Order: sequence, then C-alpha cells, then structure tokens
Amino acid sequence: RCQSTSTDEKRNKSRNVLDNASNLLTNFLSGGSIGSMPVAEGAVSDLFGKPLFFSLYDWFIEHGSVYKLAFGPKAFVVISDPIVARYILRENAFSYDKGVLADILEPIMGKGLIPADLDTWKQRRRVIAPGFHTLYLEAMVKMFANCSERSISKLENLLEAKNLQGGHEIELDLEAEFSNLALDIIGLGVFNYDFGSVTKESPVIKAVYGTLFEAEHRSTFYIPYWKFPLARWLVPRQRKFANDLKIINDCLDNLIKNAKETRQETDVEKLQQRDYSNLKDASLLRFLVDMRGVDVDDRQLRDDLMTMLIAGHETTAAVLTWAVFLLAQHPDKMKKAQAEIDAVVSQDGITLESLKKLEYVRLIISESLRLYPQPPLLIRRSLKSDRLPGGYKGNKEGYEIPAGTDLFISVYNLHRSPYFWDNPNEFEPERFLVQKDNNDIEGWAGFDPSRTAGSLYPNETVSDFAFLPFGGGPRRCVGDQFALMESTIALAMLLQKFDVELKGSPDSVELVTGATIHTKSGLFCKLKKRSHTH
Ligand code: HEM
Repeated sequence: RCQSTSTDEKRNKSRNVLDNASNLLTNFLSGGSIGSMPVAEGAVSDLFGKPLFFSLYDWFIEHGSVYKLAFGPKAFVVISDPIVARYILRENAFSYDKGVLADILEPIMGKGLIPADLDTWKQRRRVIAPGFHTLYLEAMVKMFANCSERSISKLENLLEAKNLQGGHEIELDLEAEFSNLALDIIGLGVFNYDFGSVTKESPVIKAVYGTLFEAEHRSTFYIPYWKFPLARWLVPRQRKFANDLKIINDCLDNLIKNAKETRQETDVEKLQQRDYSNLKDASLLRFLVDMRGVDVDDRQLRDDLMTMLIAGHETTAAVLTWAVFLLAQHPDKMKKAQAEIDAVVSQDGITLESLKKLEYVRLIISESLRLYPQPPLLIRRSLKSDRLPGGYKGNKEGYEIPAGTDLFISVYNLHRSPYFWDNPNEFEPERFLVQKDNNDIEGWAGFDPSRTAGSLYPNETVSDFAFLPFGGGPRRCVGDQFALMESTIALAMLLQKFDVELKGSPDSVELVTGATIHTKSGLFCKLKKRSHTH
C-alpha cells in the first residue's frame, strides 16, 4: 500500500512538471502572430494515454470552434466549425497544402494524390477521378459481394465446426476479419490482384500490414527520427519498414509491367463505356494504363496505386468495425436492419438494385462515419497568409493567420458538435432523414436531405460541411462511392446471416488512432447464426 502511494506521488509530481512545462510553452507561444485566438491551455500529459481527438473535443467546448493549441515546439489551429472548414477545404482550397501529413506520408506514397504537391495533384486527379465512373462502380458491386461471400463462408465454416462440438456460437475479432476483407477488395478493385488475405497469409500481406503499422507510428510520434540519414540502416523498425516497402513496390511494379505490356490505348469516353460484364480485368490500373494520351511513368503509377491501397484499406475496415460496435449496443436497430435486408435482398445475393433499396443499412454506415470519422482530423498548412472566417462559437470577425500555419480540421468535433446535431453522441441512423433548419446559425445552410443530388448517401453538400466523412472541395476523397457501396454490402451480408454481440462490455473496447480510429486490441464479438434467413 505504502509503495503504491509513493508511486502515485511520483506520478503526480512528474505530471505537474509536465503540466508546468507545457503551460509555460503555451503562454510563450500564445503571444505569436495568431495572438487574438483563444489558446487551449492543455497539458502535455493530455496528449498521452488517450487519443488526441478526445482532448481536442473538450477544448472545443471550452474555447470555441477556432482555437490555438500549442504543444512541443509547435502550435496548431484547431477548427470545429462548418463555415471555417468549408472555407479552407473548398472556397480557398489552393491556399493550403497537406503540411505535416505530407511529411509523414511522402516516404510511403511518394507523389500519390494524398501527399502530392499541387502541380502533380492537378495532373493525376484529372486522370484518376474519371476512373471511378458509373460502369466501373457497378462492376465493383459484384466483386464486393463475391469477396464478402468469401468472408461469410469462412465464418459459417467456423460456426459449423463449433456446432459439431456442441457449440452454437463463435467468438472472434471482427476488426481483423474486416481488415482482411477490405484488403482483398482494394487489391482487386485497384490493381486486379487477389491478396486472398481472408483465407491465407503471404509476405505481401504481411508487408502491407507492416507499412500501415509504420505509417501509424509516424503519425503519432512527434520527432521524425526516420528522416536522419542513417536511420534506415540503424533502427531495426526502419530497416523492416524499408524491406516491407520493397516487397509491396516489387509487387506493384510487376503488376504495372504486365498492364503496360497488354496496353490497349483508348479514349477516356470509350474506356468508360466498356462492357464490364465481359472484362477480365476491370481494375483502375487497367483504366489508367489504357487511357489514350497519358504516358505516365511507372514511378508515378506506383505511387498512385500505393496511395489508394493505403487510403482505401484501413478506412473501410474501420467503418465496418464501428458499425458493428454500435449495432451490437442497439439490438433493436440491428433487427431493423435485418428486416430491411430480408425484405430487399433475394436468394441471388446483393445487386446494385438491392443496394439502392437498403436505405437503413446505408444510413447505418453514414452514422458510423459520423461518430467515428476516418481520419478524425484533416490536416492542412497555409501556403500564404490568410484571413479565416469567424467561427460559429467564439469570435465572429475571423482571424489572420500567417503563411506556414498548421491547421487541424477536427471532423470528429464537427460530427459531434452540440451546435449542429441533436443528441450528438447517440447512434441514430434515422437522423439523416430529418431536415434541420438554420434559423440561428449565420452562414450555415442547414441540413437538407433533399440535397443529395443523386447520391445515395448523405454528404457535405447536404449538410453544408457539418457532415464531411470524405472531406470536401477539390481534395475530397476519390473513392467515396467505392467505399460506401463496399461497406454497405459487406455489412448487409454479415447481418443477413448472423446476429452479432460484443464479447465484453463496450467500455472494454479501447480506442487508438493513427490515420484512423481503431481498437487497441480487436473487436471481439460473438456470432450466432440467424434462425430466420433466406
Ligand atoms: C482522400 C476518407 C476510402 C482514396 C480522402 C479524404 C477523406 C477520405 C476524409 C480527404 C483527405 C483530406 O482532405 O485531407 C475516406 C474514407 C474511406 C475512404 C472514410 C472509407 C470509408 C477510400 C478508397 C479509396 C480512397 C476506397 C480508393 C479506392 C482516396 C484518395 C484521396 C482520398 C486517393 C486523396 C484525394 C485527393 O487529394 O485528391 N479520403 N476514404 N479513399 N481518398 Fe479516401
């Protein structure tokens, strides 16, 4: 007992030292050129032991929707306001780049769309975005269903084996299953490569996970030691990282070589009208290589593919993970979804037509993205001095910021803002059906479900930037429809066959963040076969 008291004292003492150091630093930095902005007096200890975005939320409620956060030798402006977010992401988008994020991702993604400088981005976005055209997405629906079927069969086999031993449910980590599924899907959709990770392990699969792990480490480690010239050879994890990258790059280089050897150059319009039902290779790589008049070097193509592999894998797995986490705590909503699935999905499985009718399941995906946005923060750096508009809560006149200011747009705060959502922390997929007017919020158009403009899912246009699961403006996600359809299909196929419960209490599921919000040690669930299914 004595010992534990003295340990506590020591811990408190060191916490105080850290707090004082942090407060000194904060005060010192608060006199800077963005001086009129409220400053979060956060302690350094706030940054450890829990994800940063939790603290950013508390400070948002305390300081308003635009404030300055100082930690270490750096200061960040934290934005939790749709009008300011709209300004940075859409209205004045080209005055900002990806700042810290590009520094972290460049060694992995090179000049891929996410970290790319503006010139490269302009060229590649023009070529890549048309690749996600209607017929491609329709062809993907079939692939999503086939891959999901592979996952479901695996679970059914596990359950059957359990039945033989007299059991009637299985326990397993669904996050890991979703991660494998999303990897298989992104491999097939983007470069027609079957990782087959639902059923096996391979060096390439291990390398992909190793790379993701390193990307996450880098995004939470504040000193970029990997930039030191010898780090790659001296630090074991950096040696492993270099090796993992080489394995993936070799694999991608090979796929690019094959695609180029079988190139059939065609106009974009013709490529977009191909008969996808007869295509052996419907992948985006095929599209990019076959496009007439675009002679792109192999290195750039590889960067593009790597970017989409990383951007489209963990994000989608995370949406499915949190959708199940939320549904398992709301069995009534799970039943409602299952009733819709039973009514809409025929024996032949999910088609584009049934997807259009799965309204409730789609809203579950959107609501999961609202509560657990991936990534929870969008990162920007101002390229020139600018004047941000005033926030909804706090200063109305706005703030001058100098060139080089680092900004976090907290999508997490926006999505849980008590000023824009009723019961912001509750899981209520139905909320997206209700119009919310903007009587008292100057500059915000309100939430209007009728503004979906052909999209099956709510988006930043409908909500005027209060809901931005895929960002907004020119750097908006290119894979949004791919990801939404993929996750709706995978979730519907899981719920069609199984009832899902959490193995432990919801509180025992700890969150961690890198680029996405995921669990610390898996989402362990109990799966039972549903008694009334097709
Ligand atoms: C960009 C979210 C799936 C490819 C983004 C951004 C967000 C996002 C928020 C904007 C980042 C910023 O402004 O800084 C998501 C979520 C996904 C998902 C939540 C899954 C649920 C995908 C998929 C792909 C993809 C499946 C590819 C097949 C990209 C690319 C960009 C991007 C290439 C960069 C676009 C640009 O800068 O022009 N994503 N994404 N994403 N995403 Fe996604």
